[in-house]
Amino acid sequence: MNIDHNLTIALTKGRILDETLPLLAAVGIEPTEQLASSRKLIIPTNVSNIHLVVLRGSDVPTYVRHGAADVGIAGKDMLLEFGGAGIYEPLDLGIARCRLMTAAPKGRAPRGQLRRVRVATKFLNVAGAHYAKKGVHADLIKLYGSMELAPLMGLADEIVDIVDTGKTLAENGMEALEEIAQISSRLVVNKAAMRTRHSSVMTLIDALSAVLKERGSGLK
Ligand code: PRP
Repeated sequence: MNIDHNLTIALTKGRILDETLPLLAAVGIEPTEQLASSRKLIIPTNVSNIHLVVLRGSDVPTYVRHGAADVGIAGKDMLLEFGGAGIYEPLDLGIARCRLMTAAPKGRAPRGQLRRVRVATKFLNVAGAHYAKKGVHADLIKLYGSMELAPLMGLADEIVDIVDTGKTLAENGMEALEEIAQISSRLVVNKAAMRTRHSSVMTLIDALSAVLKERGSGLK
């Protein structure tokens, strides 16, 4: 891959990373360290001027917005919650697909019978906007994980969370109610980098687009 500028790519840890690395390998970018075992935070690749950083999903938009990373791969859920403002989102990579949903314990009384709904979530902005649009008075409770536990423990009436296979909901006696958004991972680019490192960023975008086209997925 012919990259003329130094490019730092911010990747999201966890399940997204497992689907991201094959995509990067397909365009000829491979880390020179084992990401799973390395404690290094800035990881070189076989392309000498491309480096990777692996972050919590919620931090990827921040790094890219501030230009600390030129490019990033982030879930649409993180972009909706932590702001896609100030960054370009040129490609839907079609990986790590899931849905952002509201959910409640199976068989509980209809929401209409509740005066106020207590909602546990890590997506405060997205959840706030969703319930406001429906005209439901929601008291939002911020959690950082295991949202499904909140209704079981009497902490909340509903949750807003990612649903993939639906197994976590089912195993905890809950059911999905409304779909808020369909989620997949997106390529994001810092606005200044798009200008100052244009040829390199475009080389990366074009290479990823070609792989997605071959795979028959993802392109916006
Ligand atoms: C996510 C999400 C759900 C679960 C959904 O949790 O928050 O709990 O996956 O997947 P499923 O529909 O296939 O069961 P994650 O494992 O990322 O951990 P978290 O609870 O820390 O968010």
